Amino acid sequence: MSDTSGNAYPSFSSRLAFILTTAGAAVGLGNVWGFPYVAGKNGGGGFLLLYLVALALVAAPAFMAELLLGRMGKASPPTALRRLQAQAGSRVPWAPVAWMGLVATILILSFYDVIAGQALFYGWTALTGGFAGWDAGAVTALDTGFKASPAMAAFWSALFTAATIGIVSFDIRSGLERAGKIMMPALFLMLIGLMVFALVEGDAAAAFAFLFGFHDMRLDTGVVLEAVGQAFFTLSVGVGGIMTYGSYMGADVRLPRATLWIVAMDLAVALMAGLVIFPLVFAHNLDAAAGPGLIFITLPLIFTNIPAGAFVAFVFFLLLTFAAITSSISLMAPTVARLQEAGWSRARAAATMGLIAFLCGFATIWSFSDWQDFYPLAFLGLDGMTAFDLIREGVSNFVLPLSGIAYALMIGWWLKRDDVRKALPAPDGALFAIWYRVLGFLVPLAIGILFLTALVG
Ligand code: PHE
Repeated sequence: MSDTSGNAYPSFSSRLAFILTTAGAAVGLGNVWGFPYVAGKNGGGGFLLLYLVALALVAAPAFMAELLLGRMGKASPPTALRRLQAQAGSRVPWAPVAWMGLVATILILSFYDVIAGQALFYGWTALTGGFAGWDAGAVTALDTGFKASPAMAAFWSALFTAATIGIVSFDIRSGLERAGKIMMPALFLMLIGLMVFALVEGDAAAAFAFLFGFHDMRLDTGVVLEAVGQAFFTLSVGVGGIMTYGSYMGADVRLPRATLWIVAMDLAVALMAGLVIFPLVFAHNLDAAAGPGLIFITLPLIFTNIPAGAFVAFVFFLLLTFAAITSSISLMAPTVARLQEAGWSRARAAATMGLIAFLCGFATIWSFSDWQDFYPLAFLGLDGMTAFDLIREGVSNFVLPLSGIAYALMIGWWLKRDDVRKALPAPDGALFAIWYRVLGFLVPLAIGILFLTALVG
């Protein structure tokens, strides 16, 4: 079945294919690059607990809601939501939520491509004999060199974007699905190998104590917002990528169970990434709270003086690239689906969206060099935040949760309860009732209160 013919709506070939591909969308830089550094910065175990609560009570229910909207709407996000609005008989326009999501996909892609480009560059460096035996100065220079040279960052980012365009250009089964089916199992294998290596070679006890123990936990609105933002970002909720994948799921998928699998895989990857990074960091007396530099400076420092360091480095950055690419294709899928509805070919749509994201990426690239001290929204009191910081935090902490509220209201208030239940499908029992109430009340209230506190505070 071809999805370019315009006749049959495309679908993934099996339940497993759907789960792997969608887990691939969720598992990304946010798990391997983001989670360890955000957890490290916020004190480890305490943050993990907040993150788990945010994941279970808010982000995962919203993730299931987004998949379901895709399944029920069976089109690109703006079209799907417009149809569902009509079905629900609602007078509030729903499609703007989808358009906001599509804008967010471009913004996320713009910085995602740059970070993933750096991962690609590091993988290449390892492959061509880098890291082994380097001194600390050489490692730091690799990072600063990449960031100080917009041309270099643009080159690797372009390469990564081109790969994304390439995969998305194929039809659903031979593009998105095949990438998920190949890269996700490979990613798990590499991650397990690295974790065993790190636990044996590094300081496993310190890593466990850090990740699962309580230290000086800060509990303020900022940290809670960061935990919620991270939970949404890691599950890719709120931009329409998940809705698009939901529209491709086969009729035999049971959504509640599939959601459980995907969320579990996403969480497992974040925790395993922590168990790769922290044992090594502690064994080498380095700083777990190093921030974004954790995997591009701290970790490579370690790769220079462990056995088979260059090989370990190569596996790590290949894993990171795989994680990133299965997510970046999901960021491109919704806009491409929308353009296809307007008669474009997938290849042309993907190339256009890739080019736009790549060009927007210069905001991030320059944030690392020429715009390092340029704070575009300083006049709004957002002093000290570069364009990159604004895009990244603005999207994950604001746009994604806001879409989350909208999805929750669509399912919890506007669509008919029974239609929702049958589309899942779920028996009319306690579990369904809880999820339904969580969407109708808890998700909007929790996020709404959080936003208000952040505004006031
Ligand atoms: N979930 C991806 C990650 O963890 C990021 C992402 C967010 C991808 C939103 C698509 C949409 O890296």
